[in-house]
Amino acid sequence: MPGVLITLEGIEGSGKSTQLGLLKERISKHGLPYVCSKEPGGTILGKELRSLLLEPHSSGKKWCTMAELLLFFADRAQHLEEVVKPALHAGQIVLIDRFEDSTRAYQGAQGIPEEMLSILRQLVMKDFRPNLTLLFDADPIKTLERANSRNSAKNGFAETRFDNEAISFHQSVRQEFLKIAVQEPERIFVIKADEHPEEVAERVWSAVKPKIMAAGFLLEPSSKPVRVLKQRSW
Ligand code: TMP
Repeated sequence: MPGVLITLEGIEGSGKSTQLGLLKERISKHGLPYVCSKEPGGTILGKELRSLLLEPHSSGKKWCTMAELLLFFADRAQHLEEVVKPALHAGQIVLIDRFEDSTRAYQGAQGIPEEMLSILRQLVMKDFRPNLTLLFDADPIKTLERANSRNSAKNGFAETRFDNEAISFHQSVRQEFLKIAVQEPERIFVIKADEHPEEVAERVWSAVKPKIMAAGFLLEPSSKPVRVLKQRSW
């Protein structure tokens, strides 16, 4: 596929959505073609799954861990088919706020064994992987403050499924993310997220720029989109 897939990962409040906005701006300033999406909820049907997964149910019932895992993968299967793969085939830069590493980190931290996660990954994604994953790493004690103030600005509604979990859960999620980064250092670029957003954005760009240039996108000197077409194998 001629496009480039870049995913952004991290615990709640790590600033990945802010960085996604800044990255999008930078890519569009260079006149490059991009698509921006997220998981869960990157498609019309996926938005329904997002509500099912993240909004508290009026009955007070919660999904069991296995049902939740399958719903995240259902969302991903639809997203890959409808948005991600067509955009990559069309030669676009695809930016996604959360992808499969979130499943490995969050559902892993909930106790789903790694072998089970890898069976589902193989079923839904086969060998498909992002070209680059930016992992925004920070201490949950700090990031949850940010997530909580974001939620109180929204009348106290906990926006995401895990915002109200104990700090120890978020510590485990962080460790799961870091574990994946150690396993796949060529794909995952760990970024210290607790610095000024502009400094973080510079680090993001230092990781993204070589990847998109290696895929044949030319940034300079033209402000128009210029592509050197090159066959890439995944
Ligand atoms: P966010 O994308 O708005 O941060 O919220 C999504 C929530 O869903 C967040 O708490 C992480 C969680 N999540 C999983 O548990 N597994 C997954 O596979 C994905 C994509 C997200």
